[in-house]
Amino acid sequence: MEMVEWSESMSVGIAKIDEQHCRLIQMMGELDAAIREKAGEEMVEDILTNLFNYAQVHFAVEEELFRKHKYPEMALHELEHQRFIAKAFAFKEKLDARKPGLSLELLTFLSSWVLNHIELTDKRYCKHLHGCGVS
Ligand SMILES: [Fe+2]
Repeated sequence: MEMVEWSESMSVGIAKIDEQHCRLIQMMGELDAAIREKAGEEMVEDILTNLFNYAQVHFAVEEELFRKHKYPEMALHELEHQRFIAKAFAFKEKLDARKPGLSLELLTFLSSWVLNHIELTDKRYCKHLHGCGVS
């Protein structure tokens, strides 16, 4: 499958967030490469753990900005983050149970979620946060 790359069109105009989105997408690329090169399960699991940890750190940074600047759509946005985390851990359980066919399913989920979330949900906070002087 085609791996996603960060591009200027994904920018939310907030340097720290763009940097974190870029890193998240990079980590998905690492996961894709590890799976394709048939790296050991341990390595795949290490990359996944790093990716999920990083996603949680990133969500916390966004959510802190929402609270600080009273973003009106905060609750809905945070719900999307929580759903992602729940799904991510469900995948990890499947991985632990060595369910076959997980890799492709997982990559498809990650890349489509990240793309949709950045392009649709994250871009919705740009105007509000920019208006509050966040850049
Ligand atoms: Fe988000």
